[in-house]
Amino acid sequence: MRIPKEMNSAPVRPALILALAVMILCGTENLTAQSAARQIPIPPPPMGWSSWNSFSNTIDSQVAMEQAKAMVSTGMAKAGYQYVNIDEGWWLGERDADGNIVVDAKAWPALAPGERAGDMANIVRYIHGLGLKAGIYTDAGADGCSFMGPDLGPSYPHTGSEGHYEQDFLQFAKWGFDYVKVDWCGGDRENLDPAIQYAEIARAIARAESITGHRLYFSICNWGKNSPWTWAPNVGGVTADIWRTSGDIVAPIVANTKNSGRMASFPGVLNNFDQGIHPEAQHSGFYNDPDMMVLGMQGLTDAQNRVHISLWAISGAPLLVGADLAKLSDATLATLTNPAVIAVDQDALGLQAVKVSESGNGLEVWSKALSTAGERAVLLLNRTGEAASMAVNWSELGLADSSPASVKDVWAGKDLGAFNSSYSATVPALDAVMVIVRGSEGKFTTYAASGATTQPLSFTHVASRAQVARIQIAYTNPDKMTRFAELRVNGRIATRIAFPSTGSGNVPGAIWIESLLDRAGANNVLSFSVGGDPGPTIESISVE
Ligand code: GAL
Repeated sequence: MRIPKEMNSAPVRPALILALAVMILCGTENLTAQSAARQIPIPPPPMGWSSWNSFSNTIDSQVAMEQAKAMVSTGMAKAGYQYVNIDEGWWLGERDADGNIVVDAKAWPALAPGERAGDMANIVRYIHGLGLKAGIYTDAGADGCSFMGPDLGPSYPHTGSEGHYEQDFLQFAKWGFDYVKVDWCGGDRENLDPAIQYAEIARAIARAESITGHRLYFSICNWGKNSPWTWAPNVGGVTADIWRTSGDIVAPIVANTKNSGRMASFPGVLNNFDQGIHPEAQHSGFYNDPDMMVLGMQGLTDAQNRVHISLWAISGAPLLVGADLAKLSDATLATLTNPAVIAVDQDALGLQAVKVSESGNGLEVWSKALSTAGERAVLLLNRTGEAASMAVNWSELGLADSSPASVKDVWAGKDLGAFNSSYSATVPALDAVMVIVRGSEGKFTTYAASGATTQPLSFTHVASRAQVARIQIAYTNPDKMTRFAELRVNGRIATRIAFPSTGSGNVPGAIWIESLLDRAGANNVLSFSVGGDPGPTIESISVE
């Protein structure tokens, strides 16, 4: 059925529950605007610090307290950093007769009167007392990374949670932790299937959350093995998570140890950035994680530090700092806390950048759509050894070519003026220029859901100007709980999308995704299906 009007001017039709609907849908043509449905807030990528890169297995209560204090005193907490994440090395694999984790009481002493040494709740209370959140770490297998190849110190077996998932994640929640990173050294060694194992863990986390009422944010760390972007969104029913897409940028650089001479490298940063780009999986609160930033560690110049966080921000990556927060230079601190850059990272659409052009073997233009219509963060990235003039065209950004767009330099904080159809700048060798372009949104075509029998809900004959298209989904979910639907595009592997509550009033809300609509003409097929919960009622999709 051809829908002749913009969805926002069409009469509200009775809600159709996706589970009951099969719909063959066509689109309106040449609509000028995306649906006016209000943007539903989704969880932003986490921001904080992790102990691994600068402290390796030497993490203890003293280090965690110092770093938490520094997060506040440096102004990082004010800028949005909140997690203090304790990584590998906090636990040496010991359990009591009931299987409960036992930690070294000297490394984790009482911090206040009435506390018991060896209780991880002490450090959590301390971190919370500073207004911050606390993260903890384990392995999905029986043994953790420090068994296989400890970075510093002896090898410790049994430093993993396999066989104790229920018990360990409940313990983490009871201690009060807010975040848990689950590594894959043991899982890898045992040749386990990460999609199955991490789903089990997500379910253990959900049970721990429902018993304690305490939320544990889930960080999956299996270095991109078995393509987690294909299974990690909503794995085991989780409503928000991050998953690593590659190995570590650098092995830990720990002061006053044999590893103090290691160097972070700029090619390493670029390499992890490249491996982290999977825009079709990054939506509705699910994020690719290219690793902790090495910004501020030895080996990178100030300019490279700026490029580093620009890359993380444009890809909407978790901003987790690996440097020693007590030793940051003023320049590094300014780079880490730049509000305009952080705003790009934390933008409410939660989308990832897409490479919109590439020329001259290493001159790349990246664009991230922002939540204000017509706004894009654009990175002109020069990976070559020579300075180069680089240009971005409004049409490549999906903006109207006919009207001028204003350009602001993000790092200089300077308005550069209004430009017709394109902007160009000279970008130094191995450097980047980051700008915000504010123009007029290009045309969207809205495809309305109508007619119904059984699922899946299929939008057929969908056309797109861009290969990786931005798609706005207008829907209702009257539940307080987030609902989910699986989207399959052109028969490829599906991604699971979160649809947070839109409230009880039946007023549609909207979220955004990016999909590879690679079929020419109006030949793309998008099929939504549900399972487990009733699913959202999808009203329409608007495609750029
Ligand atoms: C790696 C992980 C690092 C760190 C380390 C601890 O597998 O990628 O981020 O957690 O283990 O041993």
